[in-house]
Amino acid sequence: MLNGKHIILGITGSIAAYKAAMLCRLLVKEGAEVRVVMTPLAKQFITPLTMATLSKHPILVEFFNPENGEWNSHVSLGEWADLMLIAPATANTLAKMTTGIADNLLMTTYLSARAKVAVAPAMDLDMYAHVTTQQNLRTLAERGVAIIEPEAGELASGLVGKGRMAEPEEIVEQVKRILAGNNAKTLSGKRYIVTAGATIEAIDPVRFITNHSSGKMGYAIAGELAQRGAEVTLITGRTSLATPYGVKRVEVVSAEDMYNAAVEAWREADGGVMCAAVADYTPVTVADHKLKKSDDDMVIELKRTKDIAKELGAKKEGRILVGFALETDNEEANAEGKLERKNFDFVVLNSLRDKGAGFRGDTNKVTIIDREGRTEHPLMSKREVARIIVDKIESLNQ
Ligand code: C5P
Repeated sequence: MLNGKHIILGITGSIAAYKAAMLCRLLVKEGAEVRVVMTPLAKQFITPLTMATLSKHPILVEFFNPENGEWNSHVSLGEWADLMLIAPATANTLAKMTTGIADNLLMTTYLSARAKVAVAPAMDLDMYAHVTTQQNLRTLAERGVAIIEPEAGELASGLVGKGRMAEPEEIVEQVKRILAGNNAKTLSGKRYIVTAGATIEAIDPVRFITNHSSGKMGYAIAGELAQRGAEVTLITGRTSLATPYGVKRVEVVSAEDMYNAAVEAWREADGGVMCAAVADYTPVTVADHKLKKSDDDMVIELKRTKDIAKELGAKKEGRILVGFALETDNEEANAEGKLERKNFDFVVLNSLRDKGAGFRGDTNKVTIIDREGRTEHPLMSKREVARIIVDKIESLNQ
């Protein structure tokens, strides 16, 4: 797939630089020619010898060789490349890229490169979430730099959150898409709404009813739609996930709030993906004080919430509507029922019986069900599932 492609692999000073070795190896294995440019600090994290051996070329750090004055031409390197991939990209390098600070060979190469550019950020969660970093990433994305989003998980600092560099396999996958031109803005001008996460139904000011949904699947879909140029409104229950680039986030608490926000956004939308785990029942009354315990058992009376997907499905008017089904038994029959009842174009079924599928994890195993039949997919990352779902949306759009 990458046969004969010229890739500049830029490595910056992050602990994730150790993954650059595997990344380089995978790119070379796919047939790419790789030239490695490192920032001075990157050399502290991974040795030039490792990278030179794997890329089969000396690595570049300085503007010239102090021994003999030989010049490392960032201009011709920039011209040579089909893609400049900076992985890991630190907050510092992202900031320099937005402002054009050219104080090392990597930055001068970036400013000279006519090639496509992709960055795979890696940093601690607070640095990543910082408004400056987020603003810089938005700016770069607006200028056409492909952002290979970091993942959430355990970080070198011991903290847990978003900021871990995407795995080398995932980066290679995205590099292939970028070079194949599959990252074109195929959905530009389209407006999509995505519901995600769990709703929270208050019992009293302290207690509530909710569920295990993490929102990860919906966030991945919102990110994928935005990456393809769609204008995305993400109506989300409470989660700790970072908003994907270019996505408008609307935070809601209860099923009622989510219903109102979704119905409102649906008026202007071209399509919707209903990924949220919405409470089916909510307390009939919400106590305005903390309920006191007594020696007796307690009964909380619940009433039905409104079905958001069904409401949007009833007002579909030729637009695309995608639903999810999380089942524990009778999976396919139940999912097919939803297709009709809620007027979905297709339903993404995940069964809690499948290991690695469903709540919280980073992987999912889905079956896509439409009126033509069923397509079963193997276990894959939620990001890959999002791509498959958005591919299908795109094919319906045509
Ligand atoms: O009926 P069930 O909850 O299993 O259907 C799941 C699908 O319907 C999901 O797409 C979910 O987001 C959506 N849904 C909704 N509003 C509800 C309940 C479910 O949008 N109140």
